[in-house]
Amino acid sequence: MDFPVTTQLLLLLVWVAAIQAALPRTELLNVCMDAKHHKAKPSREDKLHEQCSPWKKNACCTANTSQEAHKDISYLYRFNWDHCGTMEPACKRHFIQDTCLYECSPNLGPWIRQVDQSWRKERILDVPLCKEDCERWWEDCRTSYTCKSNWHKGWNWTSGYNQCPVEAACHPFDFYFPTPTALCNDIWTQSYKVSNYSRGSGRCIQMWFDPAQGNPNEEVARFYAEAMAAGAVPHGTGPLLLSLALMLLWLLS
Ligand SMILES: *[C@@H]1O[C@H](CO)[C@@H](O)[C@H](O)[C@H]1NC(C)=O
Ligand SMILES: *[C@@H]1O[C@H](CO)[C@@H](O)[C@H](O)[C@H]1NC(C)=O
Ligand SMILES: *[C@@H]1O[C@H](CO)[C@@H](O)[C@H](O)[C@H]1NC(C)=O
Repeated sequence: MDFPVTTQLLLLLVWVAAIQAALPRTELLNVCMDAKHHKAKPSREDKLHEQCSPWKKNACCTANTSQEAHKDISYLYRFNWDHCGTMEPACKRHFIQDTCLYECSPNLGPWIRQVDQSWRKERILDVPLCKEDCERWWEDCRTSYTCKSNWHKGWNWTSGYNQCPVEAACHPFDFYFPTPTALCNDIWTQSYKVSNYSRGSGRCIQMWFDPAQGNPNEEVARFYAEAMAAGAVPHGTGPLLLSLALMLLWLLS
């Protein structure tokens, strides 16, 4: 047996495995989910409307979707924000921003999950929303009213848009959402999981950002995609290959 050559081959194997383990899962980066209104792939959209305009350089939404995102009972989901009287504009702007992030962001790949729903094939789960974005949302909505804590289910849709079911009474937001975390995590069935990280940390997704400084969520997606690649046992043969190679090296030495 020729030890040096075998050792060289094994070192090569170790090197390949290590590279594989360290690379971010590129299929999680710069992608659009397969849902109701998303484009197949992100691209430039010069005409994005108002609050969705930060995503102009690279977006999963069309200009049409961005316009509709600013309307009540829009053609997107026929969702009625004013289901318990008029929602305060200061509150509504957070829901518009939430819609823009959901429809336009190409940086939610690490949190896309398959779902068995008639109106979409994929959803987002546990997106780490920056804590300040959630706190501000909750503060600004305290004076508005709602009748439910999960806005995905249980509405009365008979009139073509969502209305409160008879048994659900209207109360100020903090009755149904006692804390910022309750609001952000529960309203869309765990689409968000409020992060302990702050805006600008590079470790949480910002709903609001100034596009002049670029899109801060690109770095965040890359960070979590890398973390997932490193920890993904079922995904990568990398770690398995690595340990196998190291064991053989040790046996041969
Ligand atoms: C967006 O497209 C839909 C479907 O084609 C249409 O009904 C709607 O009027 C459009 N909205 C805007 C703002 O152009
Ligand atoms: C649903 O809404 C319709 C029209 O507003 C109303 O007549 C009906 O009683 C409601 N049903 C329930 C279960 O709330
Ligand atoms: C979040 O941060 C606060 C303050 O820095 C700390 O007290 C708390 O334990 C942290 N929570 C988690 C879940 O990491």
